[in-house]
Amino acid sequence: MPEPDLTTRIETLLEAMTLEEKIGQLTLVSAGWAVTGPQVSGDYMAALRAGRIGAISNLWGAEQTREVQRVAVEETRLGVPLMFAFDVIHGHRTIFPIPLAEAAAFDPGLWERTARAAATEAAADGLTLAFAPMLDVARDPRWGRIAESPGEDPWLAARFAEAKVRGFQGQGIAEADSVAATAKHLAGYGASIAGRDYASVEVSERTFHEVYLPPFRAAVDAGVAAIMPAFHDLAGVPMTANQTVLRGLVREGWRFDGVMVSDHGAVAELIAHGVAEDDAEAAALALRAGVDIDLMGGAYGRGLPVALERDHVTSAEIDAAVRRVLTLKARLGLLDDPYRRCDAAPAPARAEAHREVARDAGRRSIVLLTNRDGVLPLRDGMRIAVIGPLADARDDMLGPWAAAGRAENMVTILDGLREALPGSEIVHAPGVEIAGGDADGIAAALDLARSAEIVVLCLGEARRMSGEAASRARPDLPGRQPELAQAVLGLGKPVVALLSSGRPLVAPWLFERAHAVLATWFLGSEAGHAVGDVLSGRWNPTGRLPVSWPVELGQVPIFYAQRPTGRPPDPAVHYSSKYLDLPVEPLFPFGHGLSYTRFELGGLRTSAGELRPGGSIAIECDVVNQGPVAGEETLLLFVRDPIASVARPLLELKGMTKITLEPRQQGTVRFTLPADDLTFLGPDLMPRLEPGIVELYVGRTANKDTALKTSIRLLAS
Ligand code: BGC
Repeated sequence: MPEPDLTTRIETLLEAMTLEEKIGQLTLVSAGWAVTGPQVSGDYMAALRAGRIGAISNLWGAEQTREVQRVAVEETRLGVPLMFAFDVIHGHRTIFPIPLAEAAAFDPGLWERTARAAATEAAADGLTLAFAPMLDVARDPRWGRIAESPGEDPWLAARFAEAKVRGFQGQGIAEADSVAATAKHLAGYGASIAGRDYASVEVSERTFHEVYLPPFRAAVDAGVAAIMPAFHDLAGVPMTANQTVLRGLVREGWRFDGVMVSDHGAVAELIAHGVAEDDAEAAALALRAGVDIDLMGGAYGRGLPVALERDHVTSAEIDAAVRRVLTLKARLGLLDDPYRRCDAAPAPARAEAHREVARDAGRRSIVLLTNRDGVLPLRDGMRIAVIGPLADARDDMLGPWAAAGRAENMVTILDGLREALPGSEIVHAPGVEIAGGDADGIAAALDLARSAEIVVLCLGEARRMSGEAASRARPDLPGRQPELAQAVLGLGKPVVALLSSGRPLVAPWLFERAHAVLATWFLGSEAGHAVGDVLSGRWNPTGRLPVSWPVELGQVPIFYAQRPTGRPPDPAVHYSSKYLDLPVEPLFPFGHGLSYTRFELGGLRTSAGELRPGGSIAIECDVVNQGPVAGEETLLLFVRDPIASVARPLLELKGMTKITLEPRQQGTVRFTLPADDLTFLGPDLMPRLEPGIVELYVGRTANKDTALKTSIRLLAS
């Protein structure tokens, strides 16, 4: 709630507003694109002057936003400043790894740093509202938006949520270098049927609460300023009109008093969803559900006056939404100084510092999936053939949703390797295009590969093959890349394959045949340097998979937190929960990721054998670096409640921690597990803590067989 004098200012403004001006505050329109950059069209400028627009997206730049803000402040009747919004998903000008990649760092400090850097750049460009973080748990690599997501696990996604909100909003959203964050897309969007974007979602109420909502709850608890409901319908009720969730749960239950902004055109799309007959009905449904701002649909502008006449909404409901928008503007400091983010001259020093953050984020996001015979790290001084269409793909390094990032500022993998291995002779041929194209270049690529001691194969997707509306029914290597890769692998040379992609790619043959495979995702501005650091051994890889990597598409959706079955999978038992033609396990489990050194774990112990409600327990284990080089190890704490009133998942993540050790050095890691974290939803979907044995596992991956195990007893009181 704003301070008393602000409340008075807001109320005074509200009283002075016509209905049209009020609806204007609830209307967000998108700028277009001109040769010179983003630009607001003449039609929108006229609407702005008439007080019919309250916020603009996709317009950035201190000068551009200042000029449009000037019109809002000086040329509208009430002079209410605008908010400027943008999809700052993984960086603004400096581009960081895509969220799925960054999640692989298992590092809240890093997640916060990249969001902080992005916020300062966005704010210096006049922006006030980031349409981020994207918090959709995703378990299906067909869905293109898995690239924007923190992966398959609700606990990890909740930590990601908090870190990102802290990073974007900094010391407070009034600060000139902070922006308001938007937790999106509430909720369950990642479960769209068969991984097809915008499709219906069918999840049980339990899974909705246990898997899809926790990151949003964490964002709200961290003080997120805004929430964006998702496009989809949840079992027939579009999220944009979902009163039970938006109003009942989020506003009333979680006490979220910020702004809800619809997804692009989602209010008007309620008609296509089949729940509203016209704009007026759509507008009434969304407003009454709790959506304050209509992003680009125009349904509020056209529909709310009619809905008011029909008594489908009340003036009080419109006022409440306007009040929330004005409060956000006040909290952003815009009522005191509308131009506070439009005059920061971008400091060149900051750009360099942000590139350092991007390089660190990049190398921490890379996951070393396989490394046979220690082929990596590469020795300098070799003849290396860098083959494949992603080696010199500057634009693709941006990944989906690249905000104001520019291809010319990206470091390609080829450039990065040349810098990292100056004594090596590096030759390059793309061989084929990323998608489509012909196989004519394969012969020349093979010639180069033949002349080299080792081949680095740069494969993957184009940047627009993941992200929004980029679902793939066959999430594998596109185009003629399999042909190229098979031909190169056929030469019998050591091959290191790098996969630049927005999702786990299905290519089991590649993992069998290549000496090493790395997930290099889309790493952003410093992609090449990050890859160079890892391949040269300057950085000992630390990245770990935030999603299970399937062997084949038939295993999808695939995630570690499965529930037990009465007939556990057993290849030797016919009537068991298995496939006849594939293992049930993923190719690589959640948490998988190799290092150039080897860590051994032992001595798992707890501070007590029993835990009382309200209490907490410390869990420790020893780690020794048994390998040849220093390294950083990430350890994960999983729990399992073997007997409960509702079958609990086979494993649930509850903690993560890191330790850095020199060769032969030993250290101890420690987790704290509060009893509250063992709360789950009972048969009535009410939270409860059930006494009994709780198994604890500490390990590198979501694999019980390789983790250390102990158990404690949770007491009733
Ligand atoms: C996307 C959102 C995004 C919005 C505004 C929509 O199509 O689903 O994630 O924030 O556009 O650009």
